[in-house]
Amino acid sequence: MTFFIGLMSGTSADSVDAALVSFNTQKISLQLYNETPLPSHLQETLARIRSGDFPITFQEFGELDIQLGILFSEAANQLIHSAGLNPAEIAAIGSHGQTIFHHPQGNVPFTLQLGDPSTIAYRTGIMTIADFRSMDIAAGGQGAPLTPAFHEAVFRDKKNNRAIVNLGGIANITLLPAATDQPVIGFDTGPANALMDEWILKHLQEPYDKHGEWAKSGRVIKSLLEKMLADDFFQQPPPKSTGREYFNYKWLDRMLEENTYSPKDVQATLLQLTVETIRQAIETTRLEIREIILCGGGAHNYALVQGLKKAFPDKTLRPSDDYGINPDCIEAMAFAWLAKCRLENQPANIPSVTGAEKAVVLGAIYKKS
Ligand SMILES: Nc1ncnc2c1ncn2[C@@H]1O[C@H](COP(=O)(O)OP(=O)(O)O)[C@@H](O)[C@H]1O
Ligand SMILES: [Mg+2]
Repeated sequence: MTFFIGLMSGTSADSVDAALVSFNTQKISLQLYNETPLPSHLQETLARIRSGDFPITFQEFGELDIQLGILFSEAANQLIHSAGLNPAEIAAIGSHGQTIFHHPQGNVPFTLQLGDPSTIAYRTGIMTIADFRSMDIAAGGQGAPLTPAFHEAVFRDKKNNRAIVNLGGIANITLLPAATDQPVIGFDTGPANALMDEWILKHLQEPYDKHGEWAKSGRVIKSLLEKMLADDFFQQPPPKSTGREYFNYKWLDRMLEENTYSPKDVQATLLQLTVETIRQAIETTRLEIREIILCGGGAHNYALVQGLKKAFPDKTLRPSDDYGINPDCIEAMAFAWLAKCRLENQPANIPSVTGAEKAVVLGAIYKKS
């Protein structure tokens, strides 16, 4: 049995998720998991970068990289301590880092994650693999999403076509055809929680809409929903990926124009936007899906899950724990798995998903000695 650790902080920038994973021949098991909240000063800096309104200095940028690296290493050390393991027993850490800017379109595509891997390798004493997305971008891909390969490894079923829907700040879907000669499909569908989080923070000073209660108290504004759905991103065919540098408060402001809607109705509309964009995305792939597996923090949003159930009346929708995997740590587990792929020199991007010219080995290796 070999142990790997996966470290992930998603677009919500809510916490560093750390997963200790064991691999036994082909079986992947979660041993332990913890969440380390991002301190508010780091969240504020990240929000500032995202808005683009208050550029940060190179000094702040460099300090943020190190501060995030320290936070990631503390999350890993805490996990190892709780598991009663010795660092020497961990083969490697796979660290996604914190996305600062994701810009796969345009003349000069790039994606940027911070959380200095040298700091993590030094402070944990464990080989650390990071910068997983850049090689896919170099190969002409979007650098995202990367989790579909992991979803394939753990969820592909020979009998049923399955869809995995990850409800993070941004939503991404993976479609796993039962027929092994058919390619895996995967792409970002747009915002899941990101806009709802921004809106409730502004109006109720809450970080997120617990169980979607506030959204549930409002009514969907049809004209606003239609206007949002007309955004180019939703019309674009895959491969595609996005982030909070696009779906953010400015995007929402543009949609709202000068209208003075009731804030709770806007929240209800944003929730419905998430539902509708996921429904359309799955339908346009034309793969007959029977089972939808939900993961990510949005799987705890009762109103969102109800909305999705209504949108897919003929499919079974269940959280990933029903398939033996905690919905809160699938992404962290995926980066443990990606670290293992790197050590084995296994290409881990799926060109049909990211749009890369070919499959490439992902991630750079950092060692203390
Ligand atoms: N109980 C809950 N009710 C509603 N939303 C929730 C709940 N728990 C988590 N969330 C949502 O999930 C988000 C975090 O999900 P996560 O999968 O960590 O996203 P990311 O990968 O973008 O960090 C929170 O910002 C919040 O919007
Ligand atoms: Mg998160």
